[in-house]
Amino acid sequence: MLRRLLPFFLAAALPLTSWAEPSKTPENLRNPEQPIWGRNSPIPRTLQELEKDPQLLALLAQMSWEEKCGQLNQYAGEITGPQPLKPELEQRIVQGQVGSVLSISGVDRCRKLQDSALKSRLKIPLLFAMDVIHGYRTVFPIPLAEAASFDPEIAEQDAKISAQEAAASGVHLTFAPMVDIARDCRWGRVIEGAGEDPHLGQVMARARVRGFQGRQLGQPDRLAACVKHFAGYGAAEGGRDYDTSEISERTMREVYLPPFQAAMEEGVATLMPSFQETAGLPSTANPWLLRQVLRQDWGFEGVVISDYGAIEELTKHRICQDKLEAGKLALSLGVDIDMMSDIYRTLPVTPELQASLDRSVLRLLALKKALGLFEDPYRFLNQEREKKTQFCQDFRLASCRAAEKSAVLLENRQQLLPLEPQRYKRVSVIGPLADDAVSTLGEWNLVGRPEETITAWKGLREGFGACGSQVQLEKGCPAYKADSSKIAAAKKLALQSDLVVLVLGEPAEITGESRNRTFVGLPGSQLELARAIAATGKPVVTVLMNGRPLALSELRQICPTLLEMWHPGTEGGRALFNLLRGSASVGGKLPMSFPTNSGQLPIYYNRKSSGRAPEKGADKYKMAYYDSSIQPLYPFGYGLSYSSFAVSPARVVSAPSQWPLVVECTVKNTGKRKADEVVQLYVSDEVRSLTPPVKELKGFSRVSLDPGQSRTLQFRLNPGDLSFIDQDMHRVFEPGSFGLATGTDSRVPVQTRVKLSTP
Ligand code: BGC
Repeated sequence: MLRRLLPFFLAAALPLTSWAEPSKTPENLRNPEQPIWGRNSPIPRTLQELEKDPQLLALLAQMSWEEKCGQLNQYAGEITGPQPLKPELEQRIVQGQVGSVLSISGVDRCRKLQDSALKSRLKIPLLFAMDVIHGYRTVFPIPLAEAASFDPEIAEQDAKISAQEAAASGVHLTFAPMVDIARDCRWGRVIEGAGEDPHLGQVMARARVRGFQGRQLGQPDRLAACVKHFAGYGAAEGGRDYDTSEISERTMREVYLPPFQAAMEEGVATLMPSFQETAGLPSTANPWLLRQVLRQDWGFEGVVISDYGAIEELTKHRICQDKLEAGKLALSLGVDIDMMSDIYRTLPVTPELQASLDRSVLRLLALKKALGLFEDPYRFLNQEREKKTQFCQDFRLASCRAAEKSAVLLENRQQLLPLEPQRYKRVSVIGPLADDAVSTLGEWNLVGRPEETITAWKGLREGFGACGSQVQLEKGCPAYKADSSKIAAAKKLALQSDLVVLVLGEPAEITGESRNRTFVGLPGSQLELARAIAATGKPVVTVLMNGRPLALSELRQICPTLLEMWHPGTEGGRALFNLLRGSASVGGKLPMSFPTNSGQLPIYYNRKSSGRAPEKGADKYKMAYYDSSIQPLYPFGYGLSYSSFAVSPARVVSAPSQWPLVVECTVKNTGKRKADEVVQLYVSDEVRSLTPPVKELKGFSRVSLDPGQSRTLQFRLNPGDLSFIDQDMHRVFEPGSFGLATGTDSRVPVQTRVKLSTP
């Protein structure tokens, strides 16, 4: 019995954690303009504020125990997880047993359920939530691709348009942004995040929250955002989704938490704990994460929504004896909403849970109030607006622009790109991804329509066709299965062509949640197809459409022209044509290292130095592989353009001992075309009391320059930007010597050293 009750009481007793006391950001490292939570949020920022709202308190006072528990249940309209819920949904809503519904959209369907909610005793409106991850009806490139744009405006615009479309379809809240740092591309969910780097992750997290929520929550064309999955989910062992992440508190604080904190600072309304366990505790039951870091250190009083069935899964993690114990534990830790475990609804009256229950209900009611649902439960439900707002020309153009900006040029050894379409009379489009609309849209889109999607084939047929070329399609082989029976036909077509566009990659169904891979090369017979097409000697542009970094060693050798398009969304094919002919500037950079082979994973640029770093020509007793290089095939931050750029070494322009440290560099377009370059600033702490990463990205800027044009860029760094988590888990800045480097990818060596002292 004692053993059975232990987890609940242990968790309830604060402070209790397997990790140390909270690390507070020292005052001198804080940016005074950025309160930790809620800068942009009309939701009460503190519990005290929440507990003073007379309207909410009056409502709470009228609610029975069952009605309070009922508010905290979330059930699915459609299914995105393993436990389907049966049709009694409407009945439960009328009985006041449901506070929100997930995976639902469409004015008619939402209205029907809202009607039911208004038949309940207290008529508390429902909240409708959905995974709007990279677009709604107009689908944008997958988030990993948008991170490759190194342009936060792209992510913000995607989120804004997604919000406009989804909100017009009745949705109030999206389960996005996903901000999990990921260093192992075997994990299928790398498609949803911004890749391996905490700085890029923070910038993109902020942009998405701004885009979804706008300046003020509650506008009828914006959504409440939900930052997820808190925390460390991306470090799943072996890249196996849902498996353990073993992360030290320091790494958690330095690598995995910063994007969440950035989302907090932008005023994100809600948060979702992750499925996996770390240090013996699943996040849904982790008091250190949920109480100490989230509520105490960061002061978050927004709504915490469990992941799908995650409360019930506490029994499968074997830290709770039964569902009831799991429900009590999660509620006591401030997991406000029970998504799909169907546990909170049935919580028996438990006096020690009363305060937690009231608090969770208040938080949810505050969110509903901020969204304006008490004023008008139907304010998101307007059929005419729904029709007018979907898939507009402007949205499609924005999606096309995002796909263009997200593309990364990996190889252009023969300078085949950009090309003049008129020069090619016969163009063949070959490959299993060439006309795969579902993969063009990418995983985690629930509403985009394949029939409205411009695949590579459609975009190239339209583009080259308008230039008078004859364009033909041949699949060559399946995307996933090994089958080489059609390769000969594809080769024959290639031989009759002046230009081949070969579209390879990963089908969407092997990317995303639970779609992990042990081998991250091209699947099936695709490499064989590539060999056959390359052997024709025809000019070949190889286009990649994939949801994760791929190991492309052989492909790189046989294909001199490689363009990474990711899963590019609704307008992917048009974006591709614009990039090929150079009317759009290719300038994206890799947000994750591309490995040489699967055995190198996890791989990331900002690793530690090691006492035995590899040296040229000596790998015995060094950190090395016997059978492979330890270097990635393409490093973080890498990407070419149709021009060439020179970036001057970093120079410090602020006065000695003055903060902020101002670092400058000049970038010049030294080529013949107008083009984009992403200038990156890396900092390396030379010596400190705990091993520093080899280098860390601290700033970047994507610029567009005419031939011969140059621009001077400035980066400002505060001590907080150069701080780390010390032995006592405090964020500190240690004075000393720092190396600075400005360049066009993460390989750039240190160019300048600067001695910095405490402010
Ligand atoms: C995923 C979440 C998602 C939820 C609702 C879960 O399986 O982990 O990211 O928001 O389903 O669809």
